[in-house]
Amino acid sequence: ATKIKVSYVCNACGARQPKWAGQCPDCGAWNSLTETAEIRRRPAERGGGYAGAALDARIEILAEVSPEERTRILSGIGELDRVLGGGLVTGSVVLIGGDPGIGKSTLLLQACAALAAEESVLYVSGEESPQQIGLRARRLGLSGGGIRLLAETCVEQILAHAAQERPRVMVVDSIQTLFTEALQSAPGSVSQVREAAAQLVRFAKQQETVVFLVGHVTKDGALAGPRVLEHMVDTVLYFEGEHGGPFRIVRSIKNRFGAVNELGVFAMGDHGLREVKNPSAIFLSRHDQPVSGSLVMVTREGTRPLLVEVQALVDESPLANPRRVALGLDQNRLSMLLAVLHRHGGVGMFNQDVFVNVVGGVRIAETAADLPVVMAVLSSYRDRPLPLDLAVFGEIGLSGEVRPVPNGPDRLREAVKHGIRRAVVPKGNVPKEGVEGLEISAVRTLAEALDAVS
Ligand code: TYD
Ligand code: MG
Repeated sequence: ATKIKVSYVCNACGARQPKWAGQCPDCGAWNSLTETAEIRRRPAERGGGYAGAALDARIEILAEVSPEERTRILSGIGELDRVLGGGLVTGSVVLIGGDPGIGKSTLLLQACAALAAEESVLYVSGEESPQQIGLRARRLGLSGGGIRLLAETCVEQILAHAAQERPRVMVVDSIQTLFTEALQSAPGSVSQVREAAAQLVRFAKQQETVVFLVGHVTKDGALAGPRVLEHMVDTVLYFEGEHGGPFRIVRSIKNRFGAVNELGVFAMGDHGLREVKNPSAIFLSRHDQPVSGSLVMVTREGTRPLLVEVQALVDESPLANPRRVALGLDQNRLSMLLAVLHRHGGVGMFNQDVFVNVVGGVRIAETAADLPVVMAVLSSYRDRPLPLDLAVFGEIGLSGEVRPVPNGPDRLREAVKHGIRRAVVPKGNVPKEGVEGLEISAVRTLAEALDAVS
């Protein structure tokens, strides 16, 4: 009574299509559909349809459900505990994604070593042999005592071992190397990745084990994985950071047990990842003298305010369509801000290339960057440097109004801590009593903001 059904799954978005097509009808990616065979069990095998089905779960009344106490385990790596929302939650599944070579295995091995002092830890690797992992541990200066290793790629085997070991924490590196015997398709295909993850999630919930799934991400989406797993897991963390640079930023994209957009900041060195406890310091490039186009903004990612430097370069363009390039910021937002600057600030940049960059490879997803971006752009355009001890944040609306952003006072206090003495911020963000040591210009419109620094 088993039926095999063939369908086509998109590697980029995970959508399922009945027919093959060159372009995914759902997300528009090209050449991303791959054939998958799905084994369908007839209702008879599941227990005879509705009438005769054995009832495993029961219906409960919401008001009577007692919220279960979730226990947190601290890894001892502060920045990792922070992005997780205050430690590892038992029975939760955490997906850690990022480019190959960015430091996923390194971070998890370090976390395992720290955890192994107190908890039973199982590190499953489908990518490296125990010898290779041993070499890495030595390089990281970890004793490795207490960490159990398993080099295996078959999910059923992994779960059989795990059921015996009953680890409190299990790392699976990487989900793309796993395969389940239930499916015929190749390891790394969408259906394999999804089924393997589903089995691991079930295990985590049943055994109250914390499971970390490592997932490689590639820009063209050639590797299936992280994207299609996001909805199955409790927490999704992604590595960001400039390649070649020492800093690695881990951001929570989704977290059932904590804030999203929380950042953990690390520096990769010869002995692995080191926590950066005061990240504001690294995202400022500390010029000796004011330079035009450079400006400090206070962003707030997750629960922590952060000072970052925004740089802009505006230069006459040889092109008919001048370039607008935003690194670490949304490109469309930049175009919108330039339009607002023209309309409400009276400055047009139609024949200029505009480049904007956030120092240190951090991505800013919030609108508080609007005002700093416009001011940095204008500073470069006019070649007029802004003061070094100035910090700015604020959202800009289409009618040129400057709107408050969440947690203004918090941002202002962080700025003072790092030597900022002047601030241009939305009126609604200034606390009544002011902030000690800070001269604040509270502005309501873009025009007021531009006046405040001229
Ligand atoms: P890795 O954790 O293997 O990346 P991933 O698991 O995400 O693919 O990181 C490997 C890179 O990090 C590699 O380029 C070497 C570098 N590295 C260091 O710079 N210092 C170290 O102590 C270690 C272990 C790795
Ligand atoms: Mg790895």
